[in-house]
Amino acid sequence: MFRKTVGAAFAGVLLALAAGSAMAADAETQAQIDAIKATVPKFAIPMREVGDRFQNMYFAVKDGNWALAAYMSKYMNGAMTPAKLTKPDEYKTWKNFYEGRFAAVDKTIQAKDAAGFEAAYTKVIEDCNSCHKKMDYGFIKVVKLKTPANPGLDYTIKSEPGDVPK
Ligand code: HEC
Repeated sequence: MFRKTVGAAFAGVLLALAAGSAMAADAETQAQIDAIKATVPKFAIPMREVGDRFQNMYFAVKDGNWALAAYMSKYMNGAMTPAKLTKPDEYKTWKNFYEGRFAAVDKTIQAKDAAGFEAAYTKVIEDCNSCHKKMDYGFIKVVKLKTPANPGLDYTIKSEPGDVPK
């Protein structure tokens, strides 16, 4: 009887120790996850890429490189993926913007409608800036550049919007 009790108590202690070390491991893992997460960009870094791709897209359309325009749009959206993890609520606003207001721009690219693009593109700049205002960044105002953000590309290659690999 005595032995049994000691045995049970001993097993209990072992169990508690094991659980304790599992909890310690969990805390350590969580701390590591938090540390990694802190290195993932929030909005500022991806937005720089958004800004550049947005500018580049304009010159791709102007010079008839439709695949480059479609590509810029695709990766403008892709650039924001880290924010899904780091700023999930704000990311939803971005997603709504890209799939909502920005879709008008995308449609004109897919349809190779240069005139429609010019109008939709000019209009969407207001939407970019109204999100900046809404998120207390009214001092960040997008303006259209006179030359592409990335001058190291040939915007005149003739291509189709569907030429972008999946
Ligand atoms: C969901 C709201 C939202 C939308 C939509 C949005 N932005 Fe932003 N943008 C932000 C926020 C917020 C910042 C400030 C960065 C931060 O919070 O860290 C920013 C910053 C920027 C910056 C400055 C980045 C830097 O640090 O140099 C540029 C450029 C930019 N946005 C371009 C655009 C363009 C172009 C569009 C439209 C195609 C757009 N943004 C649409 C929220 C938005």
